[in-house]
Amino acid sequence: MKILVTGGLGFIGSHTTVELQNKGYEVIIIDDLSNSTEKVLDGIVAITGKRPIFEKLDLKEKSKVEDFFKRHQDVAGVIHFAASKAVGESVEKPLLYYENNIGTLVYLLKELSQKNKSSFIFSSSCTVYGQADKMPITESAPVKAAESPYGNTKQMGEEIIHDTCKVTPGINAIALRYFNPMGAHPSTEIGELPIGVPQNLVPFITQTGIGLREQLSVFGGDYPTSDGTCIRDYIHVVDLAKAHVVALERLLNGKNSENYEVFNVGTGKGSTVLEAIKSFERVSGKKLNYKIVDRRPGDITSAYADTTKANKVLGWKAESTLDEAMKSAWLWEQKVRK
Ligand code: WQD
Repeated sequence: MKILVTGGLGFIGSHTTVELQNKGYEVIIIDDLSNSTEKVLDGIVAITGKRPIFEKLDLKEKSKVEDFFKRHQDVAGVIHFAASKAVGESVEKPLLYYENNIGTLVYLLKELSQKNKSSFIFSSSCTVYGQADKMPITESAPVKAAESPYGNTKQMGEEIIHDTCKVTPGINAIALRYFNPMGAHPSTEIGELPIGVPQNLVPFITQTGIGLREQLSVFGGDYPTSDGTCIRDYIHVVDLAKAHVVALERLLNGKNSENYEVFNVGTGKGSTVLEAIKSFERVSGKKLNYKIVDRRPGDITSAYADTTKANKVLGWKAESTLDEAMKSAWLWEQKVRK
């Protein structure tokens, strides 16, 4: 069965491609290489021995998207990762985010609407909750006004898919609301490749650990938490990738109860920034150079998932601990810097 993975050379897309291939699916990747390289294909092959079909294609070009689906009528399912994802950049360049994250989604859905049956997995984010009132966060927590155009594109994306599913019974969709993905494949053949100065915590920790960065700035030490630093739900990217395969198979096998469903994908455990640093120090045996500085505008205090629905309805549960995920991130950093 052929599965299209858009953004399949990216961090989560490449790990999901590996898990799809491990389950015997034929994978075709579309990627515009704006935030990845074809070298990632070699990493995937090194792990699975199977080279996905790859087409360099910009989903903003409507005619190219139409042509792709004419040439690949046997695509049984789509996992849609391709999107811009830097919170800060989205504030400076909102139109780039609306065009790239929304325009492309509309073109994909128009193609899927032509088929009599299709399965669609959407990469969403816990960012849709903003600062939720209650921890852990369930899927019924209210969606709050987005703090950034990036977060808004995730909220709008979910609404566009839901509205489309209401009038297109042939489309079966699941939105997966990720918490904080981290780590790398245990083979160290693929992992996170942030371009320039990492915005996210874990790559900044490992780059500081390896000496690429002088010092980690901890954004805020005066939050109302156990140690004053923010709480997040850090999930191993391989666990997250497996959740995509389970969700896709729920749709392919017609197990979904409605043709639009939403699931939180996290570990269910919250960790503070200082706890993440201590995890790194445990798994690396190195002392991390960090300094607590002012809060980063837009950050929320706490977000971690209630995973009951994913565990019970989807039948998926994260397996890796924070230390195991952090160890995989550290091994990957050492491999990349070799
Ligand atoms: C985590 C914690 C920071 C860097 C965002 C998006 C989310 C998803 C993941 C794309 C926070 C602190 C960070 C640093 C720090 N994006 N931190 N020093 O902001 O929770 O989530 O990225 O898929 O949708 O919202 O992740 O890793 O940036 O921050 O102290 O150098 O680490 O303040 O508390 P975030 P993050």
